[in-house]
Amino acid sequence: MSQYLDAAQFRAEFPALTDTVHLASCSQGALSSRLAYSMQEIGFSMRDRGAPWSLWMAEVEWARERFARLIGASPHEVAILSCASEAAFQAASSLDWSDRPGIVTNDLEFPSIAHVWLAQARRGARVRVAADTGENVEAEAYANVIDESVNLVSIPLVTYRNGARLPVEEVVRLAHESGARVFVDAYQATGVMPVNVRELGCDYLTSGSLKYLLGLPGIAFLYARDGLVHQRDPELTGWFGRTNPFAFDPRLLDFPDDARRFETGTPPIPSAYAANAGFDLIERVDLNAVQTHVSALVEELAERLAAAGERVASPAGFLGPQVAIEDADPNALAERLAERRIVTAPRGNLLRLSLHYYNDRSDINAVVEAISACRKA
Ligand SMILES: Cc1ncc(COP(=O)(O)O)c(C=O)c1O
Repeated sequence: MSQYLDAAQFRAEFPALTDTVHLASCSQGALSSRLAYSMQEIGFSMRDRGAPWSLWMAEVEWARERFARLIGASPHEVAILSCASEAAFQAASSLDWSDRPGIVTNDLEFPSIAHVWLAQARRGARVRVAADTGENVEAEAYANVIDESVNLVSIPLVTYRNGARLPVEEVVRLAHESGARVFVDAYQATGVMPVNVRELGCDYLTSGSLKYLLGLPGIAFLYARDGLVHQRDPELTGWFGRTNPFAFDPRLLDFPDDARRFETGTPPIPSAYAANAGFDLIERVDLNAVQTHVSALVEELAERLAAAGERVASPAGFLGPQVAIEDADPNALAERLAERRIVTAPRGNLLRLSLHYYNDRSDINAVVEAISACRKA
């Protein structure tokens, strides 16, 4: 018998899916029994032990170790933060823009990450946008804007807009040839495909646990490659950013050599419980099998929507877990689908339908039929 759960066994871990079609993992993953229980666990810990700090710290460290293992990193290369924007900010604030002011980004980046880059202008940075070709971005667009004045190149592994998988490996090569560092936002990829920082070759990577990692909002991870020279100390700090957080010396501002230097105050403990609930499930699946399952569903969904006359905005042959369709009012369409207990994720002019290992063909049938019915009504 396989050590891994198959798709049907995985789906059974989500009792809510018996009456709900969940196609919004790009926004928030579905509720598993394990996650529901983890929300009670923190209450039990307080009821039993009052202020169980050592237990809570162990939960946070466990989340760190598990995220590190998921992305092929070491725990000392991972900082625990509250959101991906904070991770981007901490990485950017530790860079010195005086000699190399350039930051390269693109329009398929999640806006909040791009906003952090724009905000670096106050510290002397200059943002350049690698032009995209509508719904995709080619490495060549990066090649056109990376030169020796660029300090940081930013690229999402999978874009939140339409699920396209971007050419990160090639962009990393280009950036490193010019001596720039690379920040990868892997939020739309972790949990639904294998992600390995050594294979990507990136210098920083962020993700959080609420989407395909099946946890809750409130926790994000920042990977910072071992041996990376920090040009400056990060701007946000606090006692968890010290070499020894428990030294309690108000006169000593020292930064550890590892990724914990990016941490600030008390970690997001309830979200660490939720993150571990998600890892309990993700560690029981083969992520290659997840990617194969999800890609087949994505392909079928894209084909059937196109055949039904929908304008599919995800590029052909992409490898991500999502199909986006264009709509004049995606929020209204999402509400009408929600009346039928079909959960989707509208953004801008797109309705995003995202797939995880718990989705199956019945979900595709349900959403294709429901969208056709909404169009006719
Ligand atoms: C690609 C991507 N990055 C980041 C975020 C979230 O950023 P933050 O954690 O700062 O809210 C999202 C979605 O919410 C996203 O899709």
